[in-house]
Order: sequence, then C-alpha cells, then structure tokens
Amino acid sequence: TTMGKETATTAPHPHALLVSFPGQGHINPVLRFAKRLASKGLLVTFSSTLDIGQRICASTETTPGTLNPVGEGHLRFEFFSNGWDADGDDDPSRRGDIDALLAQLSTVGSVRFAELVRRQAEEGRPVACVIGNPFMPWVLDVAGELNIPSAVLWVQSLAVFSIYYHYFHSTVDFPADYGSDDVVSVDLPGLPALAVDDLPSFLLESNPYKTLASVILSQFANINKATWVFANSFEELEHDALEAISKLSPVVPIGPLVETGVSGVIKGDIWKAEDCMEWLDRQQPRSVVYASVGSVVVLGRDEMAEMAYGLRDSGRAFLWVVREDCRHQLPEGFAEDVKGRGMVVAWSPQDEVLAHRAIACFVTHCGWNSTLELLTAGVPVIAYPQWGDQLTDAKFLVDVYKVGARLKAPVERGEFAKRVGEVTEGEKAEEVRGRCLALKEAAARAVAEGGSSDRNIQAFVDDIRRRVC
Ligand code: UDX
Repeated sequence: TTMGKETATTAPHPHALLVSFPGQGHINPVLRFAKRLASKGLLVTFSSTLDIGQRICASTETTPGTLNPVGEGHLRFEFFSNGWDADGDDDPSRRGDIDALLAQLSTVGSVRFAELVRRQAEEGRPVACVIGNPFMPWVLDVAGELNIPSAVLWVQSLAVFSIYYHYFHSTVDFPADYGSDDVVSVDLPGLPALAVDDLPSFLLESNPYKTLASVILSQFANINKATWVFANSFEELEHDALEAISKLSPVVPIGPLVETGVSGVIKGDIWKAEDCMEWLDRQQPRSVVYASVGSVVVLGRDEMAEMAYGLRDSGRAFLWVVREDCRHQLPEGFAEDVKGRGMVVAWSPQDEVLAHRAIACFVTHCGWNSTLELLTAGVPVIAYPQWGDQLTDAKFLVDVYKVGARLKAPVERGEFAKRVGEVTEGEKAEEVRGRCLALKEAAARAVAEGGSSDRNIQAFVDDIRRRVC
C-alpha cells in the first residue's frame, strides 16, 4: 500500500527532474518514465508549462509540490510559466501556433525553467539529473549552465532517431520531396530501404512545419551535452536499428513506456476521458473497431465524412475518438445516427480501451505512443498515417512488424470494410494475430523486472545514486 511510506520522504533520495514539451504525445512518455524512475526509489519531479500543470493536477487530484508515493520512491509536480499564462495575456489561439509556442518556450520558458531548477537546491532537493525531450533542446543548455548532469528522452522510434541523425549529419542523400526522382530510396544501416513516403515528412521541402523540423534536428547539434540518451523503444522490437545507431550515438532503450500497474491514478491526460468502458463490456470479444488520430492530427471535412461512412458501413461495432476541436467536421447527426453500434467520444482512456477484449483492431494515425500501446496490447492495426514520424511508424507496423494493413490517405469509405476484414478474418489475419501476440509478450518481458529495458532503467538509477553519494 502507499501508506507507511511517508517516512521515506525524509531519506535522502536522489532527485531527478523531468521536463516535458506541453503536448500529449510528449507528456505521456515523460510522465510514464517519471513513474518508472520513482518506482525504483528516486525522488522525481515532473515539470511542464503551467497550463498543462493545471489540467494534470486537476485530473490526477494532486497539487504542485505534493509528494505522491510511487513504488519505492515519490513523484511530485512543479510547473513553470511560458510567459503567456503568467502575464495575464493568455490567448488560447496562440497555443495552436506551434512556431510561436516553440519560440516562446525557448526564450521565456527556458529562463523560468532555470529558476525552477535553482529553486530545487534552495529548498533542499538538489537536482541530480535533468531529463528533457527533443522539442526543447535548450533544456540541455540550462542543465549545463547549472552544472547538472542531463539526459534526453527521445519519444519516437529508434528508426526515426536514426533517420534524423543521418539527415543532420548528411551521411547519405535524401530525396527533396514527394515526386522528385533525385533519390529513389534511402538506405541506412539497420533499417529497411525507405521510399520517400516512408520518411518523416518533416524532412521534405513541402513540409509546412519548418520550425518544428529545425527544432527536432537541432537536438542533434547539442545531444552530446547529455550524459544519457534514452529512447522510448525496446531492444526486441528495434534490434537492428539499435545495433546500428548505438555505434554512432549512445542511445539506450527504456520502453515501451505504457501504463502499468505501478502507475496508479497519476495520468497526464490533458482532456478528460469519456466513459466508454461499460459500452465495451457489452460488446462481443474482438468485435469492435477502435479509431483515433491522437492529440494533434486534424482531418479535413471530406476525409472525416469518408471515415465516418467507412466505419458505419464496415459492418462492425466501432469506438471513434473525435476530439472536441474536430467535432464540427463530423457529418451532421452522425453520432446520433449510429447510436448503439457506434460510439463517438471526444477522448478515450486509450490504454484501457486497447487492453479490452472487445477490441478487434485499431485504426490509428500511428503516433509513436499509439504504436507502442497497440503493440503492447497485441491489437492488429490499420495504419492511417498523416505526417511526421507517423509515416515511418506505419511502414514498420505494416512491412517490418507485419501486424496490420495500410490505408492510404485520403481514404475512400469502401476501404475501411476491406482493411478491417483483412486484419480480422482469414489466413492473413491469423498470421497477423500470431505476430501481435509475440510482440505483446516481448514488450511485457522488456519492462518486467530484469527485462532489457528494466535493466537499462536500473543501471541509470544506480549510476545516479553513485554520483550523488
Ligand atoms: C505526437 C505526434 O503527432 C506523433 O507523431 C509523435 O510520434 C508523438 O507526438 P500524437 O499525435 O498525439 O503525438 O500521437 P501519439 O504518439 O499516439 O500520442 C497520443 C497519446 O494520447 C497516446 O498515449 C494515447 O494513448 C493518448 N490518447 C489518444 C488517449 O489517451 N485518448 C484518446 O482518445 C486518444
């Protein structure tokens, strides 16, 4: 139980401070890593910007500064301002502007974050290690200026890490864009040949997110300032990619970072999940198509209509996440029309949903967290990638791990029924299921006590302890 651990707070725990970019796809892996570290006996602080902090604390029923017992250690929260919120100048429309947010974080957020780190020592919790993530390369500079060892948690795949690494160091030629015939395939050590539409779209000329691309790449300019580089992946999944990239960069897999028994009630959902578990309980085993495009992808109105009618006509029950900000794109009256067989929610408890026996397959945009979550749950995939690393993740899911089928965007409604059939019925579906189960077991082994990723986390915790003593 968690009671009786209170005395442990007086013992000198080494203190690890993790800081997350304020996006759901980052918060989840960083917070899950924080919980793993705490469970091994560290005092861990999870930090992000104030707006995120308010939502996490509200949904988790904790307050900044409170020590929450997790396993052998403790997890606390402390947040910093990005300058917008604190100045009473909080225009929510600006939050959707990723360029403005990245700039604001690097100029103002970094200064406030440095104050937060200094405050830890003043309050008797000196920081033994600062752990940042790749959208905020300045975290390593802050730690360096304060003479604190630092680490990076790469929240995407090792394959994607490797692609960015080689692109940044110009070791091979990359195609300029879709449709250009300059480079037909990119061949990198440990990876299958990659066509232009298998690459992270941020590397192509048509990429509209220029600042994001340059921020991700700039991580490779200062990554050697980090004492440790961790990746949310596991050896058994990305063996070849790991072997090849570890010759160039000392990256250590510590995943899959998914929710586990130790995590308890502390979760980092920005939005409140709607209750869909009772509805799932009433469905037949392996009968429901679960569909979600994560926390940032926005589909166009026509694409949403095709997806809506595709799910409706698939002949299956379905659970579809349509975020509040995308709700207006749904065909009018759709959610009511399909009531009974289809459920549309604004946000789901995805980890619980994927683990539910009623789920038959997952139509996903292939964000890396969703990818690891479906692999860990052993659920077949219908890959519907949109941009960034999602394209590479889809390539691996379908052609390397072979756990599903691909839907090309923009999708046409008739495709849904075909792909659902492909991954749930017949001979190919049986093979897919076999591989899903094998990877599910491998994922569980990696994070179980003594597993490949667990050993890597333990080695880090031991290293921190040695440095503090
Ligand atoms: C972003 C990028 O888009 C993605 O490409 C990158 O790999 C990580 O950062 P996002 O698009 O939100 O992430 O996707 P994903 O990585 O799948 O993360 C979404 C998280 O939200 C998952 O952990 C998922 O479980 C959770 N989620 C999603 C819910 O809890 N409920 C939902 O309804 C939908």
